[in-house]
Amino acid sequence: MAITVLALAGSPRRNGNSETLLGWCLDAARAEGAEVVEFRLCDLDLRGCRACDACFKDGTCIQKDDMHLLYPHLRDADSIVLASPIYSMGMPGVPKIVVDRCQPFWALKYILKQPLARTEGPERLGAFLCCSGTDLPEVFSGSRRVVRYLWHVLGVTPAGEVLVPKVDEKGEVLAHPEARAAAEDLGRRLGRQRDT
Ligand SMILES: Cc1cc2nc3c(=O)[nH]c(=O)nc-3n(C[C@H](O)[C@H](O)[C@H](O)COP(=O)(O)O)c2cc1C
Repeated sequence: MAITVLALAGSPRRNGNSETLLGWCLDAARAEGAEVVEFRLCDLDLRGCRACDACFKDGTCIQKDDMHLLYPHLRDADSIVLASPIYSMGMPGVPKIVVDRCQPFWALKYILKQPLARTEGPERLGAFLCCSGTDLPEVFSGSRRVVRYLWHVLGVTPAGEVLVPKVDEKGEVLAHPEARAAAEDLGRRLGRQRDT
């Protein structure tokens, strides 16, 4: 069976720097034979977690929005890649909503004590692709921490990151062949068949 890759594009800017990184990564994953499912998060109807704690009862979210398109993929994809810009020294609101709305997985793990990790299938891998306009110290730190948390909650092994500072205007990342090589390398890892 082909490896499945869930791709989450977190920028509202179409074909911007982080989406370009994502495209390189996904082309490489597809070349390994992976099946890719891609969502542009800003095109979805996504609302913030309401802290209602309903998911503490059965590990499902009672809000009725497009998170329900993502939940099955977040649970079952063999690989997950999140691409995002830096906004205000952290992750933009829309991808952060997706992370917050993974609270049902947290509830399954820590309240309901149910195993989240699949009993069969390959090790799940996760990758983070990110661009910032500056190279300020710590510019990626907050987002990296959030993504590490996400992989932990989803039972995903971190496979790597491509973090590109000082790309601001759309297309500036095209001048970074080393970033392209790193994104493609990650894509191959995410898409390649691996031991179950
Ligand atoms: C609302 C907003 C806030 C931003 N905040 C930061 C910031 O705090 N630090 C930084 O280095 N770049 C910041 N940027 C610049 C983006 O990270 C940069 O333009 C990036 O390349 C955008 O990626 P994209 O093309 O994938 O959207 C900000 C951009 C926007 C629109």
